[in-house]
Amino acid sequence: MVDFTNIRTPFYLYDLNLLEKTVSYAMKEAARHGFVIHYAIKANSNPLVSGIIRDSGIGVDCVSGNEVIKSIELGFPRKGVVFAGVGKTDEEIQVALDEDILCLNCESVEELRVIEEIAKNSGKVARVALRVNPSVEAPTHHYIATGMDENKFGISLPYLQAALDVCSGSEHLDFIGLHFHIGSQITSLEPYRRLCERVNQIWKEFNISGYGGHILNMGGGLGIDYNDPEMNPIPDFASFFEVFSETLTLPAGIEIHFELGRSLVGQCGRIVTRVIYTKQGIGKKFVITDAGMTELMRPSLYQAVHKISNISSSGDPETYDIVGPVCESSDIFAKDAILPVTNRGDLLQILSCGAYAESMTLNFNLRDKPASLFMSEGNILKAEEYEAIQSMQSANL
Ligand SMILES: Cc1ncc(COP(=O)(O)O)c(C=O)c1O
Repeated sequence: MVDFTNIRTPFYLYDLNLLEKTVSYAMKEAARHGFVIHYAIKANSNPLVSGIIRDSGIGVDCVSGNEVIKSIELGFPRKGVVFAGVGKTDEEIQVALDEDILCLNCESVEELRVIEEIAKNSGKVARVALRVNPSVEAPTHHYIATGMDENKFGISLPYLQAALDVCSGSEHLDFIGLHFHIGSQITSLEPYRRLCERVNQIWKEFNISGYGGHILNMGGGLGIDYNDPEMNPIPDFASFFEVFSETLTLPAGIEIHFELGRSLVGQCGRIVTRVIYTKQGIGKKFVITDAGMTELMRPSLYQAVHKISNISSSGDPETYDIVGPVCESSDIFAKDAILPVTNRGDLLQILSCGAYAESMTLNFNLRDKPASLFMSEGNILKAEEYEAIQSMQSANL
């Protein structure tokens, strides 16, 4: 059992062995079908976490110019970088062109015209994929569904022909294919099957190959088990990829790409936090932790549920609302959670915090940014200590 007692809380704690296993399983299953993976670096851009993914040969999916720059600094090859986002600024488009990344995933006809103009003014040809909004529902929280008419993402089907015409009429745009992403934390494979069927129709109806389309990017979104992460630490990539392999009926030679975020990194991280107070309320007891929505925003943002356990106590079960210290009523991790009797000073761990936790850290209330630490054979190490051990081990091999 790792000894957390003398470490300043809260902190993010990563299990990079689990990450390596997850990544290599995902790569193995993708390779079986000849699929290409990009890592959605918005999920977690911690250098050690991203470094393991980079070393596995996975590319990267960015949603801001700064993510493009950071990915290249982290050593991801430029030709594996894709860049989506509904509101790319001129400056960000310029960065993508200057860095000569694989492609901009363009989200509107209006954006396409701006990309064309910037490419023309810089004497470049912009490689673009068109992100299409397929109007496919994903059973997830409505704030993380992205593929319905009401969502701001992608080009709606009635405008796809106009976008293809802009591409084919321009010397400064090189159309390479289509991009889709219907949402995040999708735990059923059925929406992906429906997406594939829709893509088959679109590819044929719009003669995408005829326009030079040779890459199909199906996005990410595969969910993880937040309820029982210890039982299911690694998502079922085999069944996920199988759906695309079985259902897509595209002409031969089309490269199929994915942008996985949460499914790669979600389970490799946790937050360790200390109980500052337990407080008796009216008809309930609160456990107040030193981590809050500033370290893990998902519960406040979209009522996400994370498994929380008390690693200091094994007393009788009690019911608590587990809340953070931040000055917002939405700063709640769990309502009516069962924990062993909990006391001031106890340590809790919040599991499944590898994705959209550290990368969403807020400075709200002028809170300190927590440390990111790494588990290694029963020890908890800082990044530089972890790296030193790794390089010693590889030198001894
Ligand atoms: C365009 C795009 N691709 C990929 C992802 C990754 O999604 P996930 O982390 O659910 O795999 C996202 C996340 O929202 C996204 O917006």
